[in-house]
Amino acid sequence: MQILMVCLGNICRSPMAEGIMRQKINEYGLNAEVDSCGTAAYHIGQSPDKRAIQTLRKYNIDISKHRGRQFDRTDFDKFDAIFVMDTENFKDIIKNTRNQGDREKVKLLLDVLYPGMQKIVPDPYYGDLAGFDDTYRLINQACDKIARQLV
Ligand code: 4NP
Repeated sequence: MQILMVCLGNICRSPMAEGIMRQKINEYGLNAEVDSCGTAAYHIGQSPDKRAIQTLRKYNIDISKHRGRQFDRTDFDKFDAIFVMDTENFKDIIKNTRNQGDREKVKLLLDVLYPGMQKIVPDPYYGDLAGFDDTYRLINQACDKIARQLV
């Protein structure tokens, strides 16, 4: 199972989701891999936001070596599941789909917890450090459910 986590900048939510999901893959001993990217080009090559790094360090997850990259259409060929954080990300990725197979891979991350409710992982970038803990909790619950489904 190849999993891709997607947000806007690839410096806050999706690198957090990648780090959290990788910890679950290891904990549950899953045959899966995870990567992340952004829909925008602003932060290509950059490290994650310091607050994202700091928050995940509390949970023994190190995302400091991640570097931002932008979504590429060939990601549809490399990944089985593409989890997006919000509805803007969803629209941006759907725009790039080439066929029904591509479209079926794209899901809101929180749909795994709240199917059909269009719940989003809010962008913590313009908020304070506490917002990153909220982001952690939401993503952690969703990743744990994904992991349990893959056991
Ligand atoms: P992310 O957060 O999509 O969770 O990585 C953002 C980071 C940077 C910007 C927007 C969102 N930005 O506009 O620079």
